[in-house]
Amino acid sequence: MPTNHPDYSAILETIWSEVAPRLGEGKVADYIPQLATDNPAQFGMAVYRLNGELFQIGQAHTRFSAQSVTKLFALALAYMRDGDDIWARLGREPSGNPFNSLVQLEYERGIPRNPFINAGALVITDILASRYVGSEIAVLQFIRQLCGKDAGIGGDLIDFDLKVAASELQTAHRNFAIAHLMKDFGNLRNTVSAVVRSYCRQCSIALNCVELARAGSFLANHGTLLWDNSTILSDSQAKRLNAIMLTCGTYDAAGDFAYRVGLPAKSGVGGGIVAIIPGEAAVAVWAPGLDASHNSALGTYALKRLTDLTGHSIF
Ligand code: DON
Repeated sequence: MPTNHPDYSAILETIWSEVAPRLGEGKVADYIPQLATDNPAQFGMAVYRLNGELFQIGQAHTRFSAQSVTKLFALALAYMRDGDDIWARLGREPSGNPFNSLVQLEYERGIPRNPFINAGALVITDILASRYVGSEIAVLQFIRQLCGKDAGIGGDLIDFDLKVAASELQTAHRNFAIAHLMKDFGNLRNTVSAVVRSYCRQCSIALNCVELARAGSFLANHGTLLWDNSTILSDSQAKRLNAIMLTCGTYDAAGDFAYRVGLPAKSGVGGGIVAIIPGEAAVAVWAPGLDASHNSALGTYALKRLTDLTGHSIF
């Protein structure tokens, strides 16, 4: 029964007991050969509350490939640096298409629908590449900062997985095609090869659920880091990122995800999802088996149960 003061320990134990017999559900991403070797029977979850309490179950300390979850942090960094100027080069509408689709890009003249599909994330990489010598290093350092590295809380061990990055780069034909199309329309400033290479490295960043929940917590906290009150994004920018997560963060399944879970979230093909309960907590979940829309199958289930059992969703 939902209450205003949910017992997170008990609720997470309930979720764990429901998920444990189902470990291995879904299909690991195999279009990145290195991810195809992941054991699907893994699961971790962490809830980081704004009062500093941390709750976790399963393999919450096992690092996994963040993949598209990094698009959230790359967007936050670009938004922090360039503000609303970024919207001249990409939209904020759900695409209703798979994350790696090319179809809209041709007739929308190289302007991606949103920053979370691959086309939009490549534009964000390009924006960052015009500011930083290594845009992927800037994103990595930003994630470490959001995780509390400067405050000595953690985050120092978050790093690239260069095997995953190399594996993706070898098979990144669609991302190259998307980048070439955008270059032709004049929406990439840097070379296609530099942008795709940085993007693949950024996507290879590996972190665990505890680190991911902490890194996302500023979005639950009006754009401000919990431990030192420093502002990453303004209140209104944080609100807007949450809105884009809700409408676009889980791709062509965003409507169904909002229906089932009711939280802004960002997923990745490594099986991770970060979800935001504004004013309350950030939640990270990881299970490598994916559903048909490439979102973690058990991860989505766990988040649905969390919002049902706590009564905390945005609706
Ligand atoms: O570009 C790609 O295909 C991957 N590096 C990231 C895709 C991804 O995580 C989509 N998420 N569900």
